[in-house]
Amino acid sequence: MKILKKEDQDLLERAKAVLQQNDRGTYTVPANDLYPHQWLWDSCFIAIGLAHIDTTRAKQEIMHLLQAQWSNGMIPNIVFNHRDTKDSALWDSKVSPNAPIDFATSGITQPPLLAEAITRIGTKLEPTERRSFYHAVYPKLLAYHQWLYRERDPHHEGLVVLIHPWESGMDNSPPWIEAMYANRIPWWIRLINWLPLDGAINFLRNDTRHVDRHERISTMQALVYYHVMQRLRRKEYDSNRILLRSHFAIQDVAFNSILIRANHLLRMIAKEIRRDIPETLDKQMSKASEALESLFDETRRHYLSKQFVTEKSLIEPSVASLLPLYSGVLTEERIELIIKELTSKPYTTRYPVPTAPVTSPYFSRERYWQGPTWININWLLINGLEQAGHDQLASDLRDKTLALIRKSGFSEYFDPHTGDARGVDNFSWTAALTIDLLSR
Ligand code: GLC
Repeated sequence: MKILKKEDQDLLERAKAVLQQNDRGTYTVPANDLYPHQWLWDSCFIAIGLAHIDTTRAKQEIMHLLQAQWSNGMIPNIVFNHRDTKDSALWDSKVSPNAPIDFATSGITQPPLLAEAITRIGTKLEPTERRSFYHAVYPKLLAYHQWLYRERDPHHEGLVVLIHPWESGMDNSPPWIEAMYANRIPWWIRLINWLPLDGAINFLRNDTRHVDRHERISTMQALVYYHVMQRLRRKEYDSNRILLRSHFAIQDVAFNSILIRANHLLRMIAKEIRRDIPETLDKQMSKASEALESLFDETRRHYLSKQFVTEKSLIEPSVASLLPLYSGVLTEERIELIIKELTSKPYTTRYPVPTAPVTSPYFSRERYWQGPTWININWLLINGLEQAGHDQLASDLRDKTLALIRKSGFSEYFDPHTGDARGVDNFSWTAALTIDLLSR
């Protein structure tokens, strides 16, 4: 770590303490009570922070995730802790012949930040140690990218399809809620919604026991999400069967942008250890940049996620439309367009970057992915700005992000107008990414 000013040194120590508090030995939970398991993209962000303070522990964070990889290559979004059987029973991953025997996991994935985490750890290692780490993780990372294209890009378009909003990591982001209403809501859910059962169902929900219910999705939306999850389980988490008819089948713009960057990093890892990317995957990855352009909506001048079956764009704006910046493959013209938007009024709240523009009909300063500021999104945008050579904007956003954390602590998310803490406290990726941002 570089030498820090006193106030930054204090912030760093507090960030480390959060990670220590959430450390479960071989992996880190996102937060103490609400999230008692290991999550995929959380652990990647956590490893990026850990890489600055303890590379052995950072490697372990990634290895633990990879140990729970499915035999078909899928990396699940949740690896359950062994004590808790309630959450893992809902998923019941063993209905799939591909699920690991030693771990109970979910049956879906999350944004593919693994290659980013692995290479960030790599930069902190001596060449020999780096190569041996890359040798250990490469076959698994490769199998994951192969799985993504083989099972989630059935038409070989170069874009992968998500089958549940939880896969996007931005559970209730406006386009995903829009996608939900584009389908018919099952009658029994509409009935429950109509009956005065909200209180009873809220009581059963885990999230609203820890966080104000106005910050989370509505009861009806939560029921739809669980209903879709049950269907995935009935189909034994087999993408082919699921995609035959699916409530959610979305070519998500943020996920695909992150994947494009991950493909580039996978190639770098392969090169360093002198491996050739298998031909089929190589072809699929090569299509991805051009395919991302097919998500650009000429009329609205935005990147938008698309419904896989109807090929219709999901038109509700959200911060996901800005994340192609992180892919690292945009033309100057597209970069300028995104930067214009990022620096325009709907996104320049006092504590940016809101996850939905303030002009969106869905905008809420407290409902988790419909407006609040999240540190991981700021981090992705800072990296995107840096890749595009916009260092001043990147450094401004970094300063604002750290100022927000100094003001309100290591919260899960923040009110973008007042900067007030929202969600749970002592959230791991907020702490981990603080460590990374302080080190620049
Ligand atoms: C919430 C977030 C998701 C995150 C998980 C664990 O579900 O929406 O992105 O991975 O919590 O922190």
